[in-house]
Amino acid sequence: MNIFDEIVERGRREISEATDQNKLNELKAKFVGKQSELSQSMKKLANLPVEEKAKFGKDLNIAKQKILELVAEKQVALANAIIDAKIANEKIDITLPGRKIEKGSKHPCDIIKDDLTEFFIGLGYAVAVGNEVELDKFNFELLNIPKDHPARAMQDSFYVDENSLLRSHTSAVQSHVMLNAKGQGPIKVICPGKVYRRDDDDMTHSHQFGQCEGLVIGKDVSLGALMETLTLMIQHMFGEKREVRFRPSFFPFTEPSIEVDISCFECGGKGCDMCKHTGWIEILGAGMVHPNVIRDNGFDPEIYQGFAFGVGIERLAMLKYGVDDIRKFYNNDISFLHQFKREK
Ligand code: FA5
Repeated sequence: MNIFDEIVERGRREISEATDQNKLNELKAKFVGKQSELSQSMKKLANLPVEEKAKFGKDLNIAKQKILELVAEKQVALANAIIDAKIANEKIDITLPGRKIEKGSKHPCDIIKDDLTEFFIGLGYAVAVGNEVELDKFNFELLNIPKDHPARAMQDSFYVDENSLLRSHTSAVQSHVMLNAKGQGPIKVICPGKVYRRDDDDMTHSHQFGQCEGLVIGKDVSLGALMETLTLMIQHMFGEKREVRFRPSFFPFTEPSIEVDISCFECGGKGCDMCKHTGWIEILGAGMVHPNVIRDNGFDPEIYQGFAFGVGIERLAMLKYGVDDIRKFYNNDISFLHQFKREK
């Protein structure tokens, strides 16, 4: 027993009756705060005889410690009471039906890209992925487009620095594949991926879009084989009835070069805004690999020939699904994207 026991007992009683945290804070201040009886008792210490000082100080500290323990215990009890009340109120009704988890789906352009990839794998092609940030050398120079060549204007891109750019076509992967093969054919590869151009966005153009490149190098590769391959691809995508048009074109990396059009899905070939009143929509460029490209990429043009093509993924998706504006693929309109969901 000591002179502080009575204070501790009073504290025990009052603290046990506290019903919330505010009241508990008040009581803590009352019993151990600066103005509390216990703290004020410290002043008496100086006037006590030396032999009583030690016991007085020790008893005072024990009393303070007890009060603090009582406050801490009560704090835990109050917090537990809040949790218990919550648990009692929040009952789980296990008879309610579960919430449906919304499944995502593939983007239409990915559906086309994957379908195209599967188709070419079926024809024995390998798949190569290149770099989206590419050296000028691979995007242009090794494809027979030297610096300052006017053909560069056909594919103005975004430059990272003087020597590197966001690739403007998947043809940039060709040189990597050919150089890796070190002059030894055959090569049969497709390269699907994103490309970038400083084109103004409109119904059929975007500054970023997908392409899929195809490259075949061998000792007996003909323009006829290229046309047959492209016809098979188009029939696979659009059915055998779709009209296809091959017309001569120019690419510095192919000779001869061709461009392939499909009859416009909007007007059926009569001419409309969509097809710029031509009745046709261009989907890909192709040609026989230029002998300079064969040579510059480590193959002997006297022995090897090849064909290459580059098809626009969005163009294919527009034609396949009858989408009239390429921008619809990018503006994340969920109701538009839901139309391509196979599992509802
Ligand atoms: C090329 O990019 C050549 N590299 C294709 C090629 C490869 C030719 C191999 C010969 C041999 P072109 O610029 O025409 O060619 O683009 C090919 C296809 O990409 C076009 O037919 C079109 O479908 C698509 N395309 C081109 N520009 C855009 C654009 N701004 N937005 C959407 N699609 C585009």
